[in-house]
Amino acid sequence: MLAIDGGPKTRTAPFPKRGLFGAEELAVVNGLFAAAVDSGDAIGYNGPEEQAYEREFADFMGGGYADLVNSGTAAVYVALGALQLEPAGEVIVPPITDPGGVMPVALLNQVPVVADAAPGTFNAGAAQIEALLTPWTRAIVVAHIAGEPVDMDPVLELARAHRLPVVEDCAQSHGARYKGRLLGTLGTIAAISTMSGKHHATGPQGGVVYTRDEALYWEAKRFADRGKPFNISAATNVRAGLNLNGNELAAAIGRVQLRKLAGIVARRQKVARQLHDGTLRLQAVRPGRLVAGAEPSYWFLRFQVDTARLTVDKDHFAQAVAAEGIPVGASYRHIPSEAIWFRERRVFPGSDYPWGLPAYPGDREATFPCPNAVAATSVQFMLSIHENWGDAEVADTLAALAKVEQAYLR
Ligand SMILES: Cc1ncc(COP(=O)(O)O)c(C=O)c1O
Repeated sequence: MLAIDGGPKTRTAPFPKRGLFGAEELAVVNGLFAAAVDSGDAIGYNGPEEQAYEREFADFMGGGYADLVNSGTAAVYVALGALQLEPAGEVIVPPITDPGGVMPVALLNQVPVVADAAPGTFNAGAAQIEALLTPWTRAIVVAHIAGEPVDMDPVLELARAHRLPVVEDCAQSHGARYKGRLLGTLGTIAAISTMSGKHHATGPQGGVVYTRDEALYWEAKRFADRGKPFNISAATNVRAGLNLNGNELAAAIGRVQLRKLAGIVARRQKVARQLHDGTLRLQAVRPGRLVAGAEPSYWFLRFQVDTARLTVDKDHFAQAVAAEGIPVGASYRHIPSEAIWFRERRVFPGSDYPWGLPAYPGDREATFPCPNAVAATSVQFMLSIHENWGDAEVADTLAALAKVEQAYLR
């Protein structure tokens, strides 16, 4: 009997913890604090640890420049701010993403325009982006959701043809590749969340802005620190901005974490491979479709349910798998235009800006139903894996999937 109907659970043992922070992180943090206590000097920011982390991050990416900031949301905000987009335009945003990947667009006085997903995926496709381009499109933000790459070549071609910058949101895709190239190195500038749920972290919250363009890097660095005149000679701050700085503690943690990243990605890829291979034996569950050349880093796994072969819908199927003790989430329907702040235009209260900006020439009432994203989320569920899963976790997950499928096959 299925656990959802009162039967025994497939998995009763707790799943392993990530153990993301270990003795090395503790040692570097203790070291910085001990030095501060001994010397009487405060722990600061933009110091040797931060400079080293940023250099090491850029090395990991194969060159370029990185700026540590205090969240992934801040990284998106700074990446967009560095581009100095003329206000009251439009920025294309992903169909499924975290609010922190979209709100910065609106806060920078750009109207977010939500591109639909490529069929069968959670990520925008070039055709879906192209359909929304206008003469006042200022930039394209893509997010590699679940650590799965967007099909970047056609997006980059489109961006080149229209002279549009591309912001890659790599919050969920540390170390993932597209046609052999690391995500984050493909667009104009990248934003990475390094909060503690991500593959590698700089502490409880954090983020990185990365670009291969030195001028853009300095622009980002200035915008992330109240417009300080970094790398230019000016007597005062040169631009209005917030204080979104990283700090020495975060950087020291990040340096340790960065050394673990490749291993973490490889272990997640192994778990994903085992699970994908295992589902070949199933009849109504298969991995979500990947684009050609994808080497995901699997922040989570997507599985698609063939509802025509089942007596229940995807949500019920996922709930039944979760009841078996497996970390399954029924839906990842995070479509920006469905959120209250977006629908009710709550960005600058007391106005409907940026949509209502007098200079905005676009359609203020435009809606973005995103049928492909809705269709994908209605038949796909998410499985939260991580690098410490072993054979037992994989076996139990496959057993639970098989048990639930068996119970609901037509
Ligand atoms: C795609 C995406 N963009 C942006 C963010 C925001 O990052 P943070 O939570 O570090 O602010 C997240 C967070 O999970 C995300 O998944």
